[in-house]
Amino acid sequence: MSLFFPTGVAQNQKIYSLDDVPLTGKIPEWLRGSYIRNGPGMFQLQNKRLNHWFDAMGALHKFTIANGKVSYQNLMIECESYKQLTETGDIQFSEFASDPCKSIFKKVQSYVFPSLPNMTDNPKVNVAKIAGKYMALGETPMQVEFDPHTLKTIGVSEPVPGGFAYKTTAHPHFEEQHAYNLVVKFGMQSYYKMYDVSKPGGKPIATVPVQKPAYLHGFGMSKKYFIIAAGPLTVVPIQLLFWKRPYIENHHWNAKDGASIYIIEKASGKLKAKFTTEAFFSFHHVNAWEEGEELIMDINAYDDASIIQKYYLKELEKEDAVLPTGTLRRYRFNLRTKKYNAETVSTACIELPRIDYNRYNTDSNYSFTYGVSVHPSHPKGFYNSIVKINSKTGDAFYWTEEGCYPGEPFFQPSPQSQNDEDGILISIVLDAANQNSFLLLLDAATMQEIARARLPEPVVYGFHGEFFAK
Ligand code: CO
Repeated sequence: MSLFFPTGVAQNQKIYSLDDVPLTGKIPEWLRGSYIRNGPGMFQLQNKRLNHWFDAMGALHKFTIANGKVSYQNLMIECESYKQLTETGDIQFSEFASDPCKSIFKKVQSYVFPSLPNMTDNPKVNVAKIAGKYMALGETPMQVEFDPHTLKTIGVSEPVPGGFAYKTTAHPHFEEQHAYNLVVKFGMQSYYKMYDVSKPGGKPIATVPVQKPAYLHGFGMSKKYFIIAAGPLTVVPIQLLFWKRPYIENHHWNAKDGASIYIIEKASGKLKAKFTTEAFFSFHHVNAWEEGEELIMDINAYDDASIIQKYYLKELEKEDAVLPTGTLRRYRFNLRTKKYNAETVSTACIELPRIDYNRYNTDSNYSFTYGVSVHPSHPKGFYNSIVKINSKTGDAFYWTEEGCYPGEPFFQPSPQSQNDEDGILISIVLDAANQNSFLLLLDAATMQEIARARLPEPVVYGFHGEFFAK
């Protein structure tokens, strides 16, 4: 049994909609709106399969909750990459860890060169509302606007001005009317750049030169600072010009370099400080805030980048696979003394972390981080539980069920929420035993089930979603 492709089910997402999804439990009256989640929709092509969990063509899933009822629909994201794939039966653009069957000359780094005609625009990682538009986001600089009612693709745009070679993250940060994102520009001189992407064409905020750019999936932001936590999984930019291997395989782990933490002042765009820590790797920042002369960064971190290898499909299909354990870590950077301190908040495995985003980058009342986890009693295989970590005590609480693989838990606070466990967790759970999936609603305070809405088909295990309240 494969987690991604339960027996007898195609390796691609079945496209359908359902008006009234069978429901057990009772959904609170106040929970109204749509939960939209992005993720892989197609791994199996005509003659081959894509290599990596991050390679697939994107699909959007939407659960609409109204009057205590649940409806569902999904759709492939109809970007240019997907259109050309359906016409030819093969990918025509380089993805994260898969290249098209083309001559080496033609596949030259299309993953990072938007100026080349074969730059992929496959945005399968996240969704966000930016400047009033609903966007599907990936790591290449293309983002795709979609209709939140029909999920249909509206158009593809570049959020920042085109350049020769650059990539971005699928994890912008929001503050008031601003949406900030990190862009990595590759060239003879490479740069980390911060942009306000809520402005048309993107407003540049800061530019930091870098020798060997790191693979970066996100960044942190406090009230005053941006934080770029660059682990030593780096690429020599010139190698991107002559790549013979898929994008990520041009990166190398250089543990002795340690991790470089760039702290950039938002107001001036100036580099306030740079710290070098023990090597670590991370996809996701969790929170960041200031306390006196300290800047605190909570991050979901690993000792190395081997997790990327474990996400190849051939690895994920091994039932006895053991995933490297990502944990919640806290770094305290003293901006005056230039000293830092690192501690592991909890040894519990966590990935796809979420917090109450209303408490992001504030210094008060942040206690809980939610994520997917490998339960300590079933430590083999894929993420089989939802974990809630008390960031103040390190205590971990779980929801788990035999044969089930829950996706990212999104935290939706209740209307008069007093704290960051007063709300509901929303997750799409892949039920391998029953070969289908269900929407799970948990009381975040107790981690007890409130309701589940079961689909007749499995939802391919995906990435990030957002609840858009009505
Ligand atoms: Co992510």
